[in-house]
Amino acid sequence: MSFKTSIIIIAVLLPMTIYSQQYSEQNSETDRSVENRIETLLSQMTLAEKISMLHGNSKFTTAGVERLGIPPWRLSDGPHGIREEIKPHTWEPAGWTTDSSSYFPTGTALAATWNPVLAEKMGIALGEEARARNKDVLLGPGVNILRTPLCGRNFEYMGEDPLLVSEMAIQYIRGVQSQDVAACLKHYALNNQEYERFKINVEVDERTLREIYLPAFKAAVKKADVFTIMGAYNKFRGKYCCENHYLLNDILKGEWDFKGAVVSDWDATHSTIESANAGLDLEMGTAVDDYKDYYFADALQKAVEDGEVAEAVVDDKVRRILRVMFRTRMIGSDDRKTGAFNTPEHQALTRKIAEEALVLLKNAGNLLPLDKTQIKSIAVIGDNATRKHAAGGVSSGLKALYEITPLEGLQKYLKDDVKITYARGYQKTSEFHWDKGAVNTPPDPEEAAALIAEAVNAAKAADVAIIFGGLNHDYDTEAFDRPDMKLPYTQNELIEAVQKANPKTIVVLICGSPVEMDRWVNRVPAIVQGWYAGMEGGTAMAKILFGDVNFSGKLPFTFPKKLADSPPHKIGEYPGKNLTVEYKEGILVGYRYFDTENVEPLFCFGHGLSYTNFSYSDLKLSSAAMLPADSIQVQVTVKNTGHADGAEVVQLYLRDVESSVLRPAKELKGFRKIFLKAGESGKVTFKLSRADLAFYDVSRSDWVSEPGAFRVLIGSSSRDIRMEGAFELLSE
Ligand code: BGC
Repeated sequence: MSFKTSIIIIAVLLPMTIYSQQYSEQNSETDRSVENRIETLLSQMTLAEKISMLHGNSKFTTAGVERLGIPPWRLSDGPHGIREEIKPHTWEPAGWTTDSSSYFPTGTALAATWNPVLAEKMGIALGEEARARNKDVLLGPGVNILRTPLCGRNFEYMGEDPLLVSEMAIQYIRGVQSQDVAACLKHYALNNQEYERFKINVEVDERTLREIYLPAFKAAVKKADVFTIMGAYNKFRGKYCCENHYLLNDILKGEWDFKGAVVSDWDATHSTIESANAGLDLEMGTAVDDYKDYYFADALQKAVEDGEVAEAVVDDKVRRILRVMFRTRMIGSDDRKTGAFNTPEHQALTRKIAEEALVLLKNAGNLLPLDKTQIKSIAVIGDNATRKHAAGGVSSGLKALYEITPLEGLQKYLKDDVKITYARGYQKTSEFHWDKGAVNTPPDPEEAAALIAEAVNAAKAADVAIIFGGLNHDYDTEAFDRPDMKLPYTQNELIEAVQKANPKTIVVLICGSPVEMDRWVNRVPAIVQGWYAGMEGGTAMAKILFGDVNFSGKLPFTFPKKLADSPPHKIGEYPGKNLTVEYKEGILVGYRYFDTENVEPLFCFGHGLSYTNFSYSDLKLSSAAMLPADSIQVQVTVKNTGHADGAEVVQLYLRDVESSVLRPAKELKGFRKIFLKAGESGKVTFKLSRADLAFYDVSRSDWVSEPGAFRVLIGSSSRDIRMEGAFELLSE
């Protein structure tokens, strides 16, 4: 560093240091005054009043204490929009006409942007919509790791890598909470399958717990200061998550010093004394309609009176809830943010996120982007070309103000310039049943053949065929896992037939989980991962297929070639035996498994093509050796060498060359999305410190980084490594 630069840095840093000192003093001053006010309120409350704050008083509210000016808490799902209003005591819609909301791309789509700035913007917009609907707590984000492709809720979550999930969740939470709304991080913890979610017991070794399944929760607490956390339905090591002392008191409130409130998932509480003493703060529910019968209602009052739960334990819970109320300015402030609802800005943001989320999986012969001036006709095929998805998926479903389907998006975009013929191609023969999930009745063979024939004719007569297939919320849903990884209905037959009829066939998959493509993946030239891309998904789709916008999304999870290749199905356990599932694959989740065991995926983690190309050069490590207390800077130059403007997600993976324990072949330790105009170059810098090198050492119950060689792998995906460097971690 030159003398001049160091002076500038010092000059910039000095005021910042003074500012941050003042800020933290002011903050602790506020904290102290809030804590004092909490104590004053507590001292005025009767036991019954305290307990009234610890359980649901309707499906989505708690009781306040009017006498003391404590309002009820109003919670809402989450995570990709504000849910429609239901009647207070049943699950029926309340019939409002003012409760439609902005529908954002769901979790996997957001993660596929690899752009934390968008996660923060989405959080802010969600917070604004929550406030405008008078909500205090937004039930999201969902950060459970994608362990099996079959998990019904994968679409709500953010993929298979702890770092990617953490970085996106941190920003989402900061955004939501900046609007005086508490985020509620869910589902803590190990809720990685929906099959038997109310009963399943998860067994996972301590290292895997710490390295794979907890980091996003920890990051949300430590780095985003999340105000509330939802305890999951399942059991962990034999104990329900909402009465799991180890998860709640020891790790969350102990090790991570969580100061907010633990909310049970709806009906996930199974006891009074045990849950109260284990660290659950608020019981929410579904089944019992007399709220006095809740575990945390009359039974808790009795447990305190009988001395089985100390009143101090109850006080701690009330304190936590009040703290969140103060921090979201529900009490103690008259300038709480009032939010904004269904604004054009929010709608534009849903489109922007969708544009950055779409992933170009394959583009043989550069079939995409399509050129409006060269194409006269398109066959648009498939049920998902016209299907709306906002309302599906159970608790995350919402009443979208509107939702542009892919067909509508293309029609609006192309106007009369290009002729569009729509053919359904396959029939959605499934229905979602509350007790069984997707029930699929095989179609009448003649009807199915007629639909395919109609699509083939449309494809033959058109310059290009685009099939919008994939899944829908009969399959990508809360409460049920998929039976297999196959495309349902007659989609495979349809794709094969259409591709034969018109070699210029593009397949767009609308789904939130991996699906098998073996029957046609080698023959279809272009494949797009379309996700559930929100209310403007169709607009974004049209713009990207015609090259007005460039693809920049990357996969947040691996697409295995077949289900049997996926680690829980190959070496772990799924869905478990006798209501216990053992995560025998340990830390080898997602690409950590595929790369360590050399199993070829269909599309790897981090994969996503662009309409331009990026070259990587000049990899520089600030040092060849690092002391444990130091850090290393990694810098690389990326150039857009093509003719289109675009964005690249530069991914940094680390490999521990020699270790006393099994380490994955590579682990993501940093990523940056860089926007470059055609011909432009830019530098990307990462910082690696000891924590990035560490594994969780069970014998020491701590994170340990062992001295020795590490390789730095810089790539455009987990399997497209462009540059490698090395350094040595020295001993103390
Ligand atoms: C889901 C939660 C949701 C809650 C309230 C539960 O069934 O697991 O994610 O927030 O319902 O709707």
